[in-house]
Amino acid sequence: MSERLSTDLNQRRYSTGELVRRLLALAWQFRGDCLLSLCQSAALLLLGLLGLQLLGVVIDVIRHALDASQRAPAYPFGWTPPAGWTPLQVVTVLSVIIVAQALARAVLTYHYNMTTARLTQGKIVPDLRARTYAKLQRLSFRFFHVHGSSSIFNRVTGDAQNTRLFVDGVLLQGLNMLLTLAAYFVFMWHIHATLTVACLSVTVGLWWVTHYYSGRLRPGYERNRELYDSLVQLFTESVQGMQTVKGFAAEGPQMRRFEAANAQVSNQQKRIFRDLSVFTPATQLLSQLSLVILFGYGGWLYVQGQISLGSGLVVFAGLLQQFNGQVANITTIANSVQQSFTAAQRVFEVLDAPTEVQNKPEAMTPGRLSGRLAFDGVTFGYQSGSEVLQQVSFEAAPGQVIGLFGMTGSGKTSLLSLIPRFYDPQEGRILADGQDLRDLDLDDYRRQIGIVYQETFLFSNTVAANIAFGNPHADAAHIEAAARAASAHEFILKMPEGYETVLGESGVDLSGGQRQRLALARALLLQPPVLILDDPTASVDPGTEHEIASALRKAMTGRTTFIAANRLSLLRRADIILVLDKGRLLQMGAHAQLVRQPGPYRETALLQLMDLGEEEEKADAAGPEPVLAGPAAKEVEEIAGSRI
Ligand SMILES: Nc1ncnc2c1ncn2[C@@H]1O[C@H](COP(=O)(O)OP(=O)(O)O)[C@@H](O)[C@H]1O
Ligand SMILES: [Mg+2]
Repeated sequence: MSERLSTDLNQRRYSTGELVRRLLALAWQFRGDCLLSLCQSAALLLLGLLGLQLLGVVIDVIRHALDASQRAPAYPFGWTPPAGWTPLQVVTVLSVIIVAQALARAVLTYHYNMTTARLTQGKIVPDLRARTYAKLQRLSFRFFHVHGSSSIFNRVTGDAQNTRLFVDGVLLQGLNMLLTLAAYFVFMWHIHATLTVACLSVTVGLWWVTHYYSGRLRPGYERNRELYDSLVQLFTESVQGMQTVKGFAAEGPQMRRFEAANAQVSNQQKRIFRDLSVFTPATQLLSQLSLVILFGYGGWLYVQGQISLGSGLVVFAGLLQQFNGQVANITTIANSVQQSFTAAQRVFEVLDAPTEVQNKPEAMTPGRLSGRLAFDGVTFGYQSGSEVLQQVSFEAAPGQVIGLFGMTGSGKTSLLSLIPRFYDPQEGRILADGQDLRDLDLDDYRRQIGIVYQETFLFSNTVAANIAFGNPHADAAHIEAAARAASAHEFILKMPEGYETVLGESGVDLSGGQRQRLALARALLLQPPVLILDDPTASVDPGTEHEIASALRKAMTGRTTFIAANRLSLLRRADIILVLDKGRLLQMGAHAQLVRQPGPYRETALLQLMDLGEEEEKADAAGPEPVLAGPAAKEVEEIAGSRI
């Protein structure tokens, strides 16, 4: 599982440059909000600097009042208090301004947070989620086979969420950091140049430590996402396969598998956490070191009278603390860079995955199909080099029933999935009414094909909504007609709320045959000229098979029908039966012809008819009739006779 995921991640690696370019384009889409957020953080920065500066002035005013030999305070913006003011009055006025500044900052911080939340959670994340989801609808089945379903879930949910980190956690925070660092640097330089150089020399070390650890963290985060995917996959599988798990009393082994996967995730997280835990104290130590330099060298400068206490030393200390705080913030930003890159890569993989089956721009709307279909030298494989169908050619006239017979894995489902163009063949063509499928408008064409799979997926919605899935605007009369055509009307009426019964809720238990008849009704709603039935009775027990068999026969009339089955009772009325063997068309013909030719079809016919004969024999045991009786016996004799 995890191997599959890691190879699937390796399928397409984006260079860092490419990721940055794509993410910047994403941010550019929301440039208005980004700019607003940046202006707000710049205003916050200015207010903060003003508050710090005023604090320094207050200290200098007090210091000067206590000791007139000290430097006179330097007021900002060329402002000087009126001559008559006492120091107490000056301090009071300045304090009021500082409080006002703090209030303004509080209000602005609120707006800043709101802007960022609106931008990320209100716009970017929903946009990414919607785009990945929309893309998933258009992707080929191949994508879903290659990528585990939980990996796909996580891409739409968690990864879309982490991709947005690039905008708020990297871009906005980063620009904000640069702005702040520049402003603080200028300010500190203005107070004392050599003191600035001395204190900031430590900052270089701080930056190096950050750089080193961010390089270590990225692979860890990637691995973490992969492990988490497999954990979720294991969990969903256990929930979905709960019956199987319990049926085999396999809770123990299943639990151990889950625990192992869980432990893997947590060990991996521990490794990341350990790296982070070394990193954070290291940066703190370095920040402390720069403070030691400040108070040693700066204290000496103050004693020498080169800088003042308030606007000099105290303001400088405040600036340095915040400067180093911002540098330490590089960790958070570097972290966000890694996280957002890992996530963006996984989101872009979905967005960029090729839609293999594509609508040509000049595709034509086919109009109502007659149901004539032809395979012309079709070769197809899921992976190049291993074909599951080879050189298959046949023709179906409108209204004919084409049976598909072959062992499991012989290619029946694959052949059927080429008809609605779920895949395109590697060689050869498939023609509908003489047109290559690749020239037809995909949606228009697919809408004319009704499909019933071996296992039916019903949505947790009403019976009516499930039948009307292909056309939500269908009215009650159409829904009922489809249900009648599928012999489903009677049992639907017996359900608690009839057509309004919600499926998937407790108390509504449908048998395999009922589910298949609902699926048939769903397929028939659009009155398709072509009907595909892929082993529709496989999950229905033989006892109730006749329930659905008669419904199927009714549904087949008037449409070209392809039916894959191994029960000859379903196949023998087919106009043509295709016998597949390892992807090759071994034999082709009607039942009566095939039972006369040696081959797998005849073998199965003999076996199944013998079984039938035995059953009839038991039923007739009371009577004086000989061993085989009834129409089945006649056929067996006929087949047996033709063998000689
Ligand atoms: N999605 C898939 N990806 C890769 N191989 C597949 C896929 N589906 C089927 N196959 C392979 O193609 C072959 C034919 O399978 P299938 O068409 O399902 O046969 P049938 O329906 O007759 O049992 C098998 O070898 C099977 O393993
Ligand atoms: Mg199959």
